[in-house]
Amino acid sequence: MSESTQSTAGAVPKQTGEQSWSVLELVRWTTDHFRGKGIESARLDAECLLAHTLGLRRLDLYLEFDKPVSPSDRSRFRELVVRRSSERVPVSLLLGEKEFWSLSLKVSGDVLTPRPETETLVEAALGWLTDDSHPYAVLDVGTGSGAIALALATERPHARMTATDISTKALQIARMNADQLRIGESVRFLDGSLFAPVRGEQFDLIVSNPPYLAREAAEALAPELAHEPDVALFAGHDGYEVLRPFAAEVAEMLLAGGRVAVEVDPGQVETVAGWFAEAELEEIETRRDLAGRPRVVAARKPAKS
Ligand SMILES: C[S@@+](CC[C@H](N)C(=O)[O-])C[C@H]1O[C@@H](n2cnc3c(N)ncnc32)[C@H](O)[C@@H]1O
Repeated sequence: MSESTQSTAGAVPKQTGEQSWSVLELVRWTTDHFRGKGIESARLDAECLLAHTLGLRRLDLYLEFDKPVSPSDRSRFRELVVRRSSERVPVSLLLGEKEFWSLSLKVSGDVLTPRPETETLVEAALGWLTDDSHPYAVLDVGTGSGAIALALATERPHARMTATDISTKALQIARMNADQLRIGESVRFLDGSLFAPVRGEQFDLIVSNPPYLAREAAEALAPELAHEPDVALFAGHDGYEVLRPFAAEVAEMLLAGGRVAVEVDPGQVETVAGWFAEAELEEIETRRDLAGRPRVVAARKPAKS
């Protein structure tokens, strides 16, 4: 088979006669096919799906490039390729897992797949939880898969971690992830909207990656987002339906000297920073993600009020 004669019209050609396909040939064919469908991370996606099919780690594919792929593996791979290219199902959902902060987390259509930019929030938070033996009270609002709370809990095992979500299905996934990481006992999972499940308590640190997309922008978004829950993505017509009450209430939920950090869309940074100022929080700052976009707004409650 030569690459120049391949068609990208269908998904993974079926085995014909004596023809066999090596790992490398399948990766190349699928990469071309995904590119033809406008999938940006074409090569990476092809490698991840084939590695998953063959029960290998992605980098180990490189050691197997010349090996033939059996018809049954090709058939299973073909199903994944079709779902990726035609239905635009994200690779994380096809695999059922996503790596975040070097943790392998289970994901499903009930949770947002954790994004690399959210690691900016984890990094900032760890910079405030400097004493790794101190029992800091930490709250993660809208925990989803548990990404932020579990990353912090593994890095700061003495912290008293609480993770909330309005979605009970998301909390089930988060609990499963905590159990898989063997930290189920050290994280408290609570069901409810914003601060309702922890009313009356106060925290050293409150973190959140709330939904912040405007419903009106939905049509312009990548087709992959249709496979993630609306409640994890959208926050009313302007994108502020969750951030607005969060910013209004967060000060009273913080201990004196406590910090808050939220992930937002880069275009929302100034508005949220303004709300923190109105709430009389201080040391308001912005952190940029790896792509250089302003992504996290943080602030501190005055030490003496
Ligand atoms: C953008 S996702 C973030 C998930 C996870 N923290 C992460 O960073 O990958 C937002 C999460 O907030 C939850 N959520 C939406 N509205 C909420 C509310 N009013 N109170 C609590 N959680 C909410 C959603 O169910 C979803 O799990």
